[in-house]
Amino acid sequence: MASNSSNGCLWNLCLSLFKLIVSLGITIFIFWLIFRPSKPKAFIESARLAQFNLTNVHKPNASLTYNLTLNLSVHNPNKRISFYYDYIEAQAQYDGTQFGLDSNFPAFFQHHKDTTVLYPKFMGRAVGLGSVVSTTFEREKREGFFYVDLMVYCKVRIKVMFFKFGHFKPKFGCRLKLAEKPDGGFERTKCDVDF
Ligand SMILES: *[C@@H]1O[C@H](CO)[C@@H](O)[C@H](O)[C@H]1NC(C)=O
Ligand SMILES: *[C@@H]1O[C@H](CO)[C@@H](O)[C@H](O)[C@H]1NC(C)=O
Ligand SMILES: *[C@@H]1O[C@H](CO)[C@@H](O)[C@H](O)[C@H]1NC(C)=O
Ligand SMILES: *[C@@H]1O[C@H](CO)[C@@H](O)[C@H](O)[C@H]1NC(C)=O
Repeated sequence: MASNSSNGCLWNLCLSLFKLIVSLGITIFIFWLIFRPSKPKAFIESARLAQFNLTNVHKPNASLTYNLTLNLSVHNPNKRISFYYDYIEAQAQYDGTQFGLDSNFPAFFQHHKDTTVLYPKFMGRAVGLGSVVSTTFEREKREGFFYVDLMVYCKVRIKVMFFKFGHFKPKFGCRLKLAEKPDGGFERTKCDVDF
């Protein structure tokens, strides 16, 4: 008898726990429908390629000296949703090979409809980029434009009223067309956003 009643207790506990979880899930889903979040928008507003110099071209020790500074604007198009950007990492890639890394960004809170400008910087020397990079470099130098890919990886929490959800890991991908000459001009570039 005693074991039967404790079983019943356990069953009731399970049942109410189950009901709680289901109603919580439905509430979150309804909130989601009402506030339906839009993806952030990201643009490279300006870019400056002060140096992009590959030496030992076509050797295994080919090395790239680079100095690239960017203005990246991140916009929150939502009316009721804010974002916490807890972590941001920017990678610069050339011809599919990463050469630069910048994770030196402050965490920030972004209100609805706000725009935040970030300043990714890549300066240094990368070695061992391989001969495919050398071929692309020589061709693009001749043509006058280098194509560099910026990949930005974020860790974001969403805030709706006083509810917070997270983590989400949005990713921005931007293909930059950079003039070989430092004063060659730059066209504002839209980034692909993967949320
Ligand atoms: C980024 O914007 C600031 C002003 O907001 C400007 O002074 C700076 O030159 C820009 N940087 C680049 C790399 O264009
Ligand atoms: C990189 O270029 C910027 C101009 O865009 C310049 O102010 C800075 O001194 C350069 N840094 C290095 C390490 O060459
Ligand atoms: C590229 O680097 C080499 C070796 O460091 C140097 O002699 C050359 O002047 C550099 N070219 C440019 C355009 O910076
Ligand atoms: C790179 O390798 C070449 C031979 O493949 C050599 O002549 C050159 O000195 C090397 N440069 C550096 C900086 O190690």
